[in-house]
Amino acid sequence: MSKPIPLVDLQTQSRAIKEEVLSRIGDVIDGARYILGKEVVEFEQQFAAYCGAEHCVGMANGTEALHMALRALDIGSGDEVITAGNSFAATAFAIAYAGADAVFVDVDPQDFNIDVDLIEQAITERTKAIIPVHLYGQGARMKEIREIADRHGLRIVEDAAQAHGAEVDGQRCGSLGDIGCFSFYPGKNLGAFGDGGAAVTNDPELAEKLRLLRNYGQKQKNRHDLLGFNCRLDTVQACVLLAKMQHIERWTEQRRQVARWYHEALAECDLLLPEERPNARHVYHLFVARCKQRDALIASLANENIFCGIHYPNPLCTAQPFREAATVPFGLPICSELGDEIVSLPMYPEKTQSDVHRVAEAVGKHFSKQERTSELV
Ligand SMILES: Cc1ncc(COP(=O)(O)O)c(C=O)c1O
Repeated sequence: MSKPIPLVDLQTQSRAIKEEVLSRIGDVIDGARYILGKEVVEFEQQFAAYCGAEHCVGMANGTEALHMALRALDIGSGDEVITAGNSFAATAFAIAYAGADAVFVDVDPQDFNIDVDLIEQAITERTKAIIPVHLYGQGARMKEIREIADRHGLRIVEDAAQAHGAEVDGQRCGSLGDIGCFSFYPGKNLGAFGDGGAAVTNDPELAEKLRLLRNYGQKQKNRHDLLGFNCRLDTVQACVLLAKMQHIERWTEQRRQVARWYHEALAECDLLLPEERPNARHVYHLFVARCKQRDALIASLANENIFCGIHYPNPLCTAQPFREAATVPFGLPICSELGDEIVSLPMYPEKTQSDVHRVAEAVGKHFSKQERTSELV
């Protein structure tokens, strides 16, 4: 059996930065600066610059970054927040943690992001914000979303958990709304050795409030100016992220190269491949294709030691906590269709062209076997 091709490979990158991380963590141990150490501040400065934003506030994870962003904007009980119907559960959970109601809107079948033509119809007098999710690493249509938000006096919180370095019209995702939220979960394009997240913003007052919210509302010890939380980015994780920051652009370009190889190798297959919009820089956190009999394809590839994923099989409103009371003004037909058809092919920066060819061969073999079977029936 040929060597496995995993959906993601975390080990190669970890090995590449291990020495630097160990040395940085050694300094943290020696200085005993485990909470909000100088490495957190250094990382926040670097990541803000990377996003083209003025401020970055490190958080415990991406979910809390979203939750704190909503609280910083005073969004809570009685308010509605419009978001896409097909994200990871955390997007909707964060809205619920803030006490607000999530309103799920269907997505565009081409780029999988929130359908901007549906947003305006979903706005009510209770709507306070829109959370576009830059799904799989491609930015949502931010110009249109900004125009809608401005027309209705709404705030924008970007869920950029999958979109480090992605761009729309030449501007980095995360810096396009009021607050941009990132996850550094290990499998993300910029991943820690555990949980981590950040919120970025150009607004100094929001940045200050986010800093208070993540640290018990404290500007100084034992002075609690508001009901804050404990959701700080660990100093040890900041060490990992600082080491990775030096490589993120190269790794992103490698992901984009892998995507180009997939496009060349799979051009003739019965798969609908993800397209990069003309004004967008897709960072291919995931390479998600569409295929009618998706489960059979995944099984065939697994037989060849090639492992795929599904992101995400069910619309968010079907998750147990939302099922009873989800607000879905126009249904989610595209989300449901995508849930049955999408397949995430192996994607990571170190993936070689010959690995891509192996995946393409296995996909080709699967479809020709299917053709032969249907001829026999
Ligand atoms: C789109 C999206 N939003 C939010 C999150 C939540 O991030 P975290 O796992 O760091 O809490 C994730 C990742 O897990 C995500 O993919």
